[in-house]
Amino acid sequence: MNDFFLSRVWESDPEVAKIIEREYFRQKDTIDLIASENFVSQSVLDAFSIFTNKYAEGYPNGRYYGGCEHADEVELLAIDRAVKVFKYPYANVQVHSGSQANQAVFLACLEPGDTILGFSLDAGGHLTHGSRVNMSGKWFNAVTYGVRKDDYLIDMRQVESLALHHKPKLIIAGASAYTRHIDFARFREIADKVGSLLLADIAHYSGLIATDLYPSPYPFADVITTTTHKVLRGPRGGMIMAKDPGVMKRINSAVFPGMQGGPIMQAIVAKAVAFKELQSDNFTEYANSVLRNARSLATELIEKGFNLITGGTDSHMMLIDLTKQGITGKDAEFLLSQVGIICNKNTIPFDEKSPFITSGVRFGVAAVTTRRISQEHIKELAHIIYDTLVRRSSIDSLKARVMQITRDLQFYSADNILF
Ligand SMILES: Cc1ncc(COP(=O)(O)O)c(C=O)c1O
Repeated sequence: MNDFFLSRVWESDPEVAKIIEREYFRQKDTIDLIASENFVSQSVLDAFSIFTNKYAEGYPNGRYYGGCEHADEVELLAIDRAVKVFKYPYANVQVHSGSQANQAVFLACLEPGDTILGFSLDAGGHLTHGSRVNMSGKWFNAVTYGVRKDDYLIDMRQVESLALHHKPKLIIAGASAYTRHIDFARFREIADKVGSLLLADIAHYSGLIATDLYPSPYPFADVITTTTHKVLRGPRGGMIMAKDPGVMKRINSAVFPGMQGGPIMQAIVAKAVAFKELQSDNFTEYANSVLRNARSLATELIEKGFNLITGGTDSHMMLIDLTKQGITGKDAEFLLSQVGIICNKNTIPFDEKSPFITSGVRFGVAAVTTRRISQEHIKELAHIIYDTLVRRSSIDSLKARVMQITRDLQFYSADNILF
């Protein structure tokens, strides 16, 4: 009989091994246009490692468990690399997600009932920026700003007037479905006028900020939060950085012991590897390709009559208003998934449809760019999207065209992933 401890998953649990295999082929054989997803390098996957066995409650050189010498080493390395890239002098790499990063900032800097000012979810913000269904909107007096009706850009006049009127303790700049540059300097001016702390949630843009391809919140924001798994291309997780040692101390205490026990050490190891990759020429080339591919896809879609919110993009993502095509975001997401193009429905600013239906879809090119999609394939992808949503061509022929693209895209060797 096999020893349970040393047997491999395909021997001990073929049911789960088969699911992993199916997911491998799903990822390989579809086109991922989800703006918040990416494919980590094989090295980042490798680093997601036996550190899963280690409890490391506390911080480097101040742990509550023995045997943490290598955990200390790698966490300090991850922090050091993050500091080099983003210029903020202090970092917490222990938070498990982007939402938790924001919650830790709230716990460190606010009291329940305090006023916060964030970007409305309906206009492109994130749940954690004050939505009523989220802790940020339940425990705080959340006031939200939106975009202008004429050009869909963030309404900085509204931000200023709301700030002057409500005197928020915290202002949040950052978004999940906003494709243009955010004016962090202007947010700073407004925060200074009312004495607010400024948090920049750069989850979507951090990979582009690291390569100077999107405006940096440094030195404008007091604190930045990010996920590590979007354009940044690291493992699923979060990070918080701050300028001031006192603020960082409070944030560290909010993460542990305020909100969590032990960190997910294997994720921290993988973050360290991703942060090294961020500093490479290879990543700069990647980030440039992301912007080039986003602009190409946007241009192709506009030529086919699609209405892009703000008329284009300055980032990896685009938001498409499907009202003219007479199709909902929900139906578009479903139809595209039928042919092997994976994306998400998304509300558009001033959407009259519910968040379950929506009038739009959001596309991002971070994942397909990692797989080295070519310009010709981007053109063909736009054609396929048009033929799926507007011409309603046969699903089989569209699927075959998607397969022609995915066949040419890079993917992990099955030998390294499967069993
Ligand atoms: C701007 C922003 N902040 C926070 C988050 C939350 O990240 P997570 O899903 O890791 O909790 C997201 C996720 O998409 C995001 O877009």
